[in-house]
Amino acid sequence: MYHLVYISQARENMTLTTLVVLLMQARALNERHHVTGALVYGAGQFMQVIEGEEEVVKDLYARVAKDERHYDVRTLAEGPIATRSFAQWSMAFGEVPADQFEVLCRVAEYQTPAQMAGQLAVNRATDEQLLTKMKDLVQVHAQG
Ligand SMILES: Cc1cc2nc3c(=O)[nH]c(=O)nc-3n(C[C@H](O)[C@H](O)[C@H](O)COP(=O)(O)O)c2cc1C
Repeated sequence: MYHLVYISQARENMTLTTLVVLLMQARALNERHHVTGALVYGAGQFMQVIEGEEEVVKDLYARVAKDERHYDVRTLAEGPIATRSFAQWSMAFGEVPADQFEVLCRVAEYQTPAQMAGQLAVNRATDEQLLTKMKDLVQVHAQG
Protein backbone atom coordinates (compact mmCIF):
# COMPACT_ATOMS: atom_id res chain seq x y z
CA MET A 1 0.00 0.00 0.00
CA TYR A 2 1.23 3.46 -0.91
CA HIS A 3 0.23 7.05 -0.28
CA LEU A 4 0.93 10.49 -1.59
CA VAL A 5 0.08 13.92 -0.21
CA TYR A 6 0.21 17.08 -2.30
CA ILE A 7 -0.75 20.72 -2.10
CA SER A 8 -1.95 22.85 -5.05
CA GLN A 9 -3.50 26.17 -5.96
CA ALA A 10 -7.05 26.16 -7.30
CA ARG A 11 -7.21 27.77 -10.76
CA GLU A 12 -10.11 30.03 -9.93
CA ASN A 13 -12.39 30.37 -6.99
CA MET A 14 -14.11 27.02 -6.93
CA THR A 15 -17.86 27.21 -6.43
CA LEU A 16 -19.81 24.60 -4.55
CA THR A 17 -21.02 23.28 -7.91
CA THR A 18 -17.54 22.87 -9.40
CA LEU A 19 -16.35 21.22 -6.20
CA VAL A 20 -19.25 18.77 -6.21
CA VAL A 21 -18.65 17.90 -9.88
CA LEU A 22 -14.97 17.29 -9.13
CA LEU A 23 -15.77 15.21 -6.08
CA MET A 24 -18.35 13.04 -7.84
CA GLN A 25 -15.92 12.32 -10.67
CA ALA A 26 -13.06 11.57 -8.25
CA ARG A 27 -15.14 9.31 -6.01
CA ALA A 28 -16.52 7.25 -8.89
CA LEU A 29 -13.06 6.70 -10.37
CA ASN A 30 -11.47 6.02 -6.99
CA GLU A 31 -14.04 3.37 -6.12
CA ARG A 32 -13.27 1.59 -9.35
CA HIS A 33 -9.50 1.70 -8.61
CA HIS A 34 -9.71 0.93 -4.87
CA VAL A 35 -8.30 4.35 -4.13
CA THR A 36 -9.15 6.07 -0.85
CA GLY A 37 -8.16 9.41 0.63
CA ALA A 38 -9.13 12.90 1.58
CA LEU A 39 -9.36 16.26 -0.15
CA VAL A 40 -9.28 19.50 1.81
CA TYR A 41 -10.13 22.79 0.12
CA GLY A 42 -9.51 26.15 1.75
CA ALA A 43 -8.07 29.59 0.98
CA GLY A 44 -8.07 28.76 -2.74
CA GLN A 45 -5.84 25.75 -2.21
CA PHE A 46 -6.19 21.99 -2.21
CA MET A 47 -4.45 19.43 -0.06
CA GLN A 48 -5.11 15.83 -0.96
CA VAL A 49 -3.98 12.45 0.28
CA ILE A 50 -4.33 9.53 -2.13
CA GLU A 51 -4.01 5.91 -0.92
CA GLY A 52 -3.90 2.68 -2.89
CA GLU A 53 -1.63 0.35 -4.82
CA GLU A 54 1.63 2.11 -5.70
CA GLU A 55 1.14 1.95 -9.47
CA VAL A 56 -2.44 3.16 -9.17
CA VAL A 57 -1.49 6.08 -6.91
CA LYS A 58 1.35 7.15 -9.20
CA ASP A 59 -0.83 6.92 -12.33
CA LEU A 60 -3.59 8.90 -10.66
CA TYR A 61 -1.20 11.57 -9.43
CA ALA A 62 0.25 12.01 -12.92
CA ARG A 63 -3.29 12.61 -14.18
CA VAL A 64 -4.29 14.91 -11.32
CA ALA A 65 -1.10 16.98 -11.61
CA LYS A 66 -2.03 17.83 -15.22
CA ASP A 67 -5.57 18.85 -14.33
CA GLU A 68 -6.32 22.42 -15.38
CA ARG A 69 -8.51 23.07 -12.37
CA HIS A 70 -5.39 23.64 -10.26
CA TYR A 71 -1.69 24.49 -10.65
CA ASP A 72 1.58 24.63 -8.68
CA VAL A 73 1.06 21.05 -7.58
CA ARG A 74 3.73 20.14 -4.99
CA THR A 75 4.29 16.74 -3.40
CA LEU A 76 4.45 16.94 0.39
CA ALA A 77 4.82 13.28 1.29
CA GLU A 78 5.04 10.03 -0.62
CA GLY A 79 5.88 6.47 0.26
CA PRO A 80 4.75 3.03 1.35
CA ILE A 81 2.23 2.74 4.17
CA ALA A 82 1.23 -0.19 6.35
CA THR A 83 -2.48 0.63 6.38
CA ARG A 84 -4.86 3.15 4.90
CA SER A 85 -5.80 6.19 7.02
CA PHE A 86 -9.03 6.80 5.04
CA ALA A 87 -10.08 3.21 4.34
CA GLN A 88 -13.80 4.01 4.45
CA TRP A 89 -13.70 7.06 2.13
CA SER A 90 -13.38 6.96 -1.67
CA MET A 91 -12.47 10.62 -1.15
CA ALA A 92 -13.39 12.35 2.10
CA PHE A 93 -13.94 16.06 1.53
CA GLY A 94 -14.01 19.22 3.59
CA GLU A 95 -14.05 22.88 2.69
CA VAL A 96 -12.29 24.61 5.57
CA PRO A 97 -11.71 28.22 6.68
CA ALA A 98 -8.40 29.83 5.67
CA ASP A 99 -6.97 29.71 9.19
CA GLN A 100 -7.57 25.96 9.36
CA PHE A 101 -5.86 25.45 6.01
CA GLU A 102 -2.90 27.41 7.36
CA VAL A 103 -2.64 25.04 10.32
CA LEU A 104 -2.52 22.17 7.85
CA CYS A 105 0.27 23.89 5.91
CA ARG A 106 2.30 24.42 9.06
CA VAL A 107 2.11 20.73 9.91
CA ALA A 108 2.99 19.75 6.34
CA GLU A 109 5.93 22.12 6.06
CA TYR A 110 7.99 19.88 8.30
CA GLN A 111 8.31 17.53 5.35
CA THR A 112 9.68 20.04 2.87
CA PRO A 113 13.37 20.08 3.92
CA ALA A 114 13.66 16.31 3.52
CA GLN A 115 12.05 16.57 0.11
CA MET A 116 14.43 19.28 -1.01
CA ALA A 117 17.34 17.09 0.02
CA GLY A 118 15.90 14.55 -2.39
CA GLN A 119 14.88 12.21 0.38
CA LEU A 120 11.31 11.18 -0.07
CA ALA A 121 11.53 8.82 2.88
CA VAL A 122 8.58 9.83 4.96
CA ASN A 123 9.12 11.28 8.38
CA ARG A 124 6.57 9.02 10.00
CA ALA A 125 5.87 11.17 13.04
CA THR A 126 5.12 14.27 10.94
CA ASP A 127 3.24 12.24 8.38
CA GLU A 128 1.02 10.85 11.10
CA GLN A 129 0.36 14.37 12.43
CA LEU A 130 -0.59 15.61 8.98
CA LEU A 131 -2.95 12.70 8.30
CA THR A 132 -4.54 13.13 11.72
CA LYS A 133 -5.11 16.84 11.08
CA MET A 134 -6.61 16.12 7.65
CA LYS A 135 -8.90 13.51 9.17
CA ASP A 136 -10.05 15.98 11.84
CA LEU A 137 -10.79 18.61 9.21
CA VAL A 138 -12.75 16.39 6.82
CA GLN A 139 -14.80 15.09 9.72
CA VAL A 140 -15.54 18.51 11.24
CA HIS A 141 -16.22 20.10 7.83
CA ALA A 142 -17.69 17.02 6.15
CA GLN A 143 -19.50 17.68 2.89
CA GLY A 144 -20.79 15.84 -0.12
C1 LIG B 1 -7.91 18.89 -6.76
C2 LIG B 1 -8.24 17.72 -7.62
C3 LIG B 1 -8.38 16.45 -7.05
C4 LIG B 1 -8.68 15.34 -7.83
N1 LIG B 1 -8.80 14.12 -7.24
C5 LIG B 1 -9.05 13.04 -8.00
C6 LIG B 1 -9.15 11.76 -7.42
O1 LIG B 1 -9.01 11.56 -6.22
N2 LIG B 1 -9.41 10.71 -8.25
C7 LIG B 1 -9.59 10.84 -9.58
O2 LIG B 1 -9.80 9.86 -10.27
N3 LIG B 1 -9.51 12.06 -10.16
C8 LIG B 1 -9.26 13.16 -9.41
N4 LIG B 1 -9.21 14.39 -10.00
C9 LIG B 1 -9.56 14.50 -11.41
C10 LIG B 1 -8.42 14.12 -12.32
O3 LIG B 1 -7.53 15.21 -12.43
C11 LIG B 1 -8.95 13.73 -13.71
O4 LIG B 1 -9.74 14.75 -14.23
C12 LIG B 1 -9.77 12.47 -13.66
O5 LIG B 1 -9.05 11.47 -12.98
C13 LIG B 1 -10.17 11.96 -15.05
O6 LIG B 1 -9.02 11.71 -15.78
P1 LIG B 1 -9.05 11.81 -17.37
O7 LIG B 1 -9.61 13.18 -17.65
O8 LIG B 1 -7.64 11.66 -17.79
O9 LIG B 1 -9.95 10.71 -17.79
C14 LIG B 1 -8.87 15.51 -9.22
C15 LIG B 1 -8.72 16.77 -9.79
C16 LIG B 1 -8.41 17.87 -9.01
C17 LIG B 1 -8.27 19.23 -9.64
